[in-house]
Amino acid sequence: MNIDKDHIAVLRAIEGLHRRYEYVPLDEAVTKLPFSAKTTRFLISELNKMEYVSFFTHRDTGVAVKVTETGFDVLSLWDFKKHGVITNIGSPVGTGKESVIISAETKNGFAAVKMHRYNQKEFVKIKRSFSWTAIKKIIDDLGIREHEINVPRAKAQTEFRALSGLSGTIPVPEPYGINRHAVCMQFIGKKSLPAKILVKVVLKEPKDVLDLIIEDYEKAAEKWVHGDFSEFNIMVTDEGELYYIDWSQAIPSNYENADRMKERDLQNIRNYFLKKYKLKDQ
Ligand SMILES: Nc1ncnc2c1ncn2[C@@H]1O[C@H](COP(=O)(O)OP(=O)(O)OP(=O)(O)O)[C@@H](O)[C@H]1O
Ligand SMILES: [Mg+2]
Repeated sequence: MNIDKDHIAVLRAIEGLHRRYEYVPLDEAVTKLPFSAKTTRFLISELNKMEYVSFFTHRDTGVAVKVTETGFDVLSLWDFKKHGVITNIGSPVGTGKESVIISAETKNGFAAVKMHRYNQKEFVKIKRSFSWTAIKKIIDDLGIREHEINVPRAKAQTEFRALSGLSGTIPVPEPYGINRHAVCMQFIGKKSLPAKILVKVVLKEPKDVLDLIIEDYEKAAEKWVHGDFSEFNIMVTDEGELYYIDWSQAIPSNYENADRMKERDLQNIRNYFLKKYKLKDQ
């Protein structure tokens, strides 16, 4: 079964009703759409088969529907395509606990679309972490209440802002667009094959690479502090170029705790090189 524009219209309407309901009463969704009740019910049942909405039964409201995580992914991808940010959707590049990354095509080459995920355990961690300050700022900018915060969307905002602020300063994927919880950015790799992350690479000149990483980090830190800087968040192309990725927990460098976060980041990367390449601390 393929999703078409009628399914998208229904999915959008349910998404809109989520402003009022966590679980959208099916009857209400049916009245909001320009299709007959029968057609709407049929389209919703198809969306359910594709796992883009799930059903719930509530004592007071009867059957209700809710857009799933993959349902929101589909809306974002559809909109990226509609707005010309991408021309085609590719295949999954990586699935983590906090994000799903897929490749996509653009008019000029390839892109990576990172769809942020909500992770309960991680949320508890974030609330205790330095990055909470940045997320709080987004909550305030968006004018919403703290308990209404949509963490994947806030993380996408942070990542997009950091990538936009750092493009041209240090090598980061160029940001192409943001939609809901998804960020579309330059694809790092060859065609749709991603470059390796630093932890998977054996460097010939580790000391020079560490010096370059620290130099780049210092440049970036005039604007943004990464917050999860490690051998897992640096990509190395076949030509040996470095790209710094995963800025979703970054904070602007004038924020409280930015200095402590910076020290921790730099210590992390130094420790990695000291241990892996037996470099001397200096
Ligand atoms: N712009 C990009 N181009 C190509 N591949 C990418 C790009 N960004 C991320 N990736 C791939 O996706 C993986 C995960 O990306 P990232 O570190 O940004 O997400 P994450 O939230 O840390 O995911 P995880 O939950 O797995 O830790 C990277 O290790 C890399 O292999
Ligand atoms: Mg990562």
